[in-house]
Amino acid sequence: MGKIKIAVLGLGTVGTGVVKGINRHKQKLEVSLGKEIEIRKVLVRNAQKKRDVDLSPGSLTTFIDDVYIEPDLDAVIEVMGGVHPTYSYVKEFLSKGIHVITANKALIALYGPELTRLARDNGAQLLYEASVGAAIPVIHTLKHCMRVNEISKISGILNGTTNYILTQMLERNCSYESILKEAQALGYAEADPSSDVEGFDAANKLTILCRLCFGDSPLPGEIKREGITNITNEELQLVNKLGYKIKLIATAEQVNGKLLTDISPTLLPLEHPLSSVDDVLNAVSITADLAGELTFIGKGAGELPTASAILEDLYSILQFPMETWNPSYHRKIELLHDVGLETAWFLHFNSTLSDNAQDLAQLTYLLNRQQLLVNQTTQVSIDTDLISNGLIIESSTPQTIELLKRQFSRVVTARKIEGNVKVHEHAIFSS
Ligand code: NAP
Ligand code: HSE
Repeated sequence: MGKIKIAVLGLGTVGTGVVKGINRHKQKLEVSLGKEIEIRKVLVRNAQKKRDVDLSPGSLTTFIDDVYIEPDLDAVIEVMGGVHPTYSYVKEFLSKGIHVITANKALIALYGPELTRLARDNGAQLLYEASVGAAIPVIHTLKHCMRVNEISKISGILNGTTNYILTQMLERNCSYESILKEAQALGYAEADPSSDVEGFDAANKLTILCRLCFGDSPLPGEIKREGITNITNEELQLVNKLGYKIKLIATAEQVNGKLLTDISPTLLPLEHPLSSVDDVLNAVSITADLAGELTFIGKGAGELPTASAILEDLYSILQFPMETWNPSYHRKIELLHDVGLETAWFLHFNSTLSDNAQDLAQLTYLLNRQQLLVNQTTQVSIDTDLISNGLIIESSTPQTIELLKRQFSRVVTARKIEGNVKVHEHAIFSS
């Protein structure tokens, strides 16, 4: 039986999952590919670290040159993360015509088109299914099953760490910090978790999706982005009492021929299909002219779900090594900058029991002055003397909301209105 020789760059959460996945399905892979899969080299930073998987003797290395000189590699699986030195490693393999599979959204968001061209010019493939939504086969779907449809919108929950944090903060009322630590221990978070919680990771993923859906994309840094670090336990409880959940929603939508992109915490009505997409689950919804709305849900991070996408890419490359993929079209897309579109907003402020009625009266006065309509209100007790008030304001611009917040702090000097989480467009108000 011939051999398929592969190298794995990185043996952390995902690399370990890849080795486990290959071991678990070795026989099945070998029978259907007709060759034995051999992991020739595994690149790590620290050779002394205890590993969760057994490797063949001599395969672990800390030197990239050991991988470069390995003869006859069929494919390299890049799961070490980061843009540098990964970019130069990936370029080196693709230049030699060696297929590369990567889970690295930061790399693909920045260099995907260039690396794809390099792969094509050298008769290799660059596949990156694991880079968006981990186990969800959304990239394959967009590349191969949505070539004729005109896609007008793509949106969803693109980060498992933040979705896990928001879910657990609400369900267990534990602190943000303690749940972030759990997400790290579960292997969901990026090496630098600020990438998750500040929305950078979702921006990388949205960039990759935009290229596939619209033929072009803003760079991750051009996407309007807000993370979840300001979301508090009280906020989650208040919105839940009002019939909503807060989710970090990423959206890219064509509006009058321009692309509007946004990543921000958003109130979803409890009856909205994405509001039950909890914990590490991700969801991607595609709106297309022929197909209508398609929604994919699945595990968006973690060892085996991510390895699943990588191993399906590996199988596809080994079965169809000559396949090339060309985008249906390239086009330069103009960005629509959100200059403050009107939407509904959730706001809240804390008050002592004795002052609460007066504070609410002041707020009502200011709301009336700005002609702002309040749709819903609720309260939760924080302790014996402190109340948190939550309210949803119908249709207003962010500028008006900022003005209201400033005026409130001037009138009620001891208090501050917190938050300005926008409400999802699908929320239907009864008033
Ligand atoms: P990780 O647990 O931090 O593992 C990174 C691995 O790469 C470690 O084994 C590390 O070596 C090695 N490494 C890092 N820098 C290196 C360098 N310069 N030279 C040699 N080895 C290096 O990361 P991960 O969570 O597996 O994520 C890997 C990639 O997959 C990232 O691009 C991430 O964004 C992406 N991804 C992750 C998930 C997930 O759920 N975790 C899901 C989808 C995509 P040591 O072990 O010696 O430190
Ligand atoms: N840190 C990422 C997440 C890993 O939590 O979604 C999967 O891309």
